[in-house]
Amino acid sequence: MSTLVVVGSQWGDEGKGKITDYLAQNADVVVRSQGGNNAGHTISFGGEKFALRSIPSGIFSPHIKNVMANGMVIDPKQMLEELEGLEARGIKDYQLFISNRAHIVLPYHRLLDGAFEQFKGDKKIGTTKRGIGPAYADKANRIGIRIADLIDPELFKIALSDTLKIKNMELKMVGEEPLDFNSIYNEYKEYGQRIKKYVCDTSELLESEIEKGSKVLFEGAQGVMLCIDHGTYPYVTSSSPTAASVPLNAGIAPRYINNVLGICKAYTTRVGEGPFPTEIEGDLANYIRERGHEYGTVTKRPRRVGYLDAVALNYARRVSGINYLSLMLFDVLSGLEELKICYAYEIDGKVVKTMPATLKELENAKPMYVTLPGFKEDITNVKSFDELPENAKLYIKKVEELTNTKVAMFSVGPDRLQTIKLIEIF
Ligand code: IMP
Repeated sequence: MSTLVVVGSQWGDEGKGKITDYLAQNADVVVRSQGGNNAGHTISFGGEKFALRSIPSGIFSPHIKNVMANGMVIDPKQMLEELEGLEARGIKDYQLFISNRAHIVLPYHRLLDGAFEQFKGDKKIGTTKRGIGPAYADKANRIGIRIADLIDPELFKIALSDTLKIKNMELKMVGEEPLDFNSIYNEYKEYGQRIKKYVCDTSELLESEIEKGSKVLFEGAQGVMLCIDHGTYPYVTSSSPTAASVPLNAGIAPRYINNVLGICKAYTTRVGEGPFPTEIEGDLANYIRERGHEYGTVTKRPRRVGYLDAVALNYARRVSGINYLSLMLFDVLSGLEELKICYAYEIDGKVVKTMPATLKELENAKPMYVTLPGFKEDITNVKSFDELPENAKLYIKKVEELTNTKVAMFSVGPDRLQTIKLIEIF
């Protein structure tokens, strides 16, 4: 049995797409189990760059079964556009399976997402405005519409007419125009018919794949610190990007999960609002932002930048069962005099080594750093740990020590070939 869960161990955008793509070369199945097109996974190979949003990263390899599982919220319109975009660039030979139990994102979700954000004013979450939160809210409220409904015109008609009555009242309340049933129905019924050929019970598919010994890679979206349960609530997404959520969101037994690989940048970034204890500004932040191309894949927003935060990483390790790390964008740190890693927070005069639960404490958290010497050398062509400059080796060792994990791989550039494997985990 060989399964691996890849999770973002910070606030998302850690480079999960790159590592999933790299590991996918050995995989038989790649699964997205939560989130939707709020994710943006950038994958580069053969001099080309692809930005995936809701489609799993195994889509480029014809032998891989790509699964969009029940825990996702899928925007059918966007998903079909994404597929068309891939096909236009020659990615035509792929295998895609969509769960009949996944929920769908409809136009009113996007409108409500934007309206709630505006309503919240300076307390806005900074969402991607893709309707993700409102779609998960409908799921919990038992008025969501699922893929199985979408692909059956009769079921879809009933579900949409029931739900739209409620949603139109909500839209009115936030000052938006109500939506017309017929235009949504006719447009989305068509999408349902185009999607139909991909739809199945993906839980059944996954069990049979795992039982027959296939290599299955679960591709996390977002990051543990954006988890609805364990993240920096309320500045989080509306699903759980932890490894613990995978069995539920993919309909598989928990005992099927072997290893959990946490993806983390050699520094930290965050988009959207919310506390960020190790955040830095000024020249150093700009240096890292420009070298790391730290602009959102989905929204193009400049990302906030900070030092590596081992308190947050250690917490992500605990709540997500991470046993290995992949250190990403390590090359970005070349040229800095010194490197800092936060090992604790000082909150109201106390030294704290775990993530506090309240925003108030997090906002008051002063990071305590270990300072290491930087490295000047360009490391983008390094092919092994031994070829790294001594100070870069020291940095990796310190990350392992402070996070109680092993660094199984590190990355020194966007290309598949710029990935250095230290431990075989999949
Ligand atoms: P939502 O998921 O669009 O509701 O956004 C909620 C929060 O999660 C916002 O701070 C977003 O910026 C953040 N977020 C959602 N998806 C991603 C992602 O894939 N990478 C990084 N941040 C994300």
